[in-house]
Amino acid sequence: MATALNGAVEPVDSIIRTVARSATEIRQGLIGRRSSAAEENPSGETQLEADVWADDLLYDRLSRLEGVAQYASEEREEVLDCGDDVDVDDGVAVALDPLDGSSNLKSNNTMGTIVGIYDEPLPAPGEALLGACYVLYGPITTMVVATEDGVSEYELGGGEATVVQANVTLPDDPVVYGVGGRVPDWPPAIEAYVSRLESELKLRYGGAMIGDINQVLTYGGLFAYPTLESSPEGKLRVQFEGNPIGYILERAGGRSSDGHGSLLAVEPTELHQRTPLYVGNKAYVDLIEDILADA
Ligand code: AHG
Ligand code: MN
Ligand code: MN
Ligand code: MN
Repeated sequence: MATALNGAVEPVDSIIRTVARSATEIRQGLIGRRSSAAEENPSGETQLEADVWADDLLYDRLSRLEGVAQYASEEREEVLDCGDDVDVDDGVAVALDPLDGSSNLKSNNTMGTIVGIYDEPLPAPGEALLGACYVLYGPITTMVVATEDGVSEYELGGGEATVVQANVTLPDDPVVYGVGGRVPDWPPAIEAYVSRLESELKLRYGGAMIGDINQVLTYGGLFAYPTLESSPEGKLRVQFEGNPIGYILERAGGRSSDGHGSLLAVEPTELHQRTPLYVGNKAYVDLIEDILADA
């Protein structure tokens, strides 16, 4: 891959290209790693062998890149300092979800890898992002890359990233929605919100955020993992899921929110802090903020 991806500057471009090159190997490596690793991650989730293996592979490849000062992931308790001479003030911090939707591995459905590249020590707000990307392990392995220049989509294969769409923007005429959690666990405000969504859009919910996000980015609409009665902070993690996805959807002309304002403005105090997440076309993100303001 000779040219920079989506106009990314170093070391953002090297990080994203390293993830792209690793994606084919990760996809292949899922085979035979579908069972539980019998450990729990910092979010209290049972880890699959594939979660741990993909995280180790990405740590090994990314931590050695010039300019990478810190590495953190959903699967690791602490932030890791990388490179003996790189201070975070001049380097970048990489935070990632090595396998998003790994519970889909058992049912052989879509999964993803999510990467956020920050210019501040972790935990850091989304406003500190220099770039973000996600890999979608679908029928085709694709990657969506966002930088200040906007959003591009690539097909990955044979160590190459081939651009299939530059300047990706959310369609104006939204079509799909997906909302996580169980219906009895939705507070009344979320039930009211979903009633509006289901009256205007059609349901697409696949259990891996990246698969659902790619539907929204392709067809327009709304994806949410909302506040729940059982967990007011929802399920998704600010550092590894909320920020990178919020950054990508906002760069694609949409909005993101934790229910009150942009996800990128959330000031995380904990590395594995969770947040409610609403992303997609502006009208539908504005709507949840209005509903919650009146609740
Ligand atoms: P991860 O596999 O990285 O822990 O993420 C799973 C997340 C996200 O991908 C998805 O939107 C959500 O969990 C699905 O949650 P439910 O199983 O509760 O629907
Ligand atoms: Mn997990
Ligand atoms: Mn995830
Ligand atoms: Mn994960």
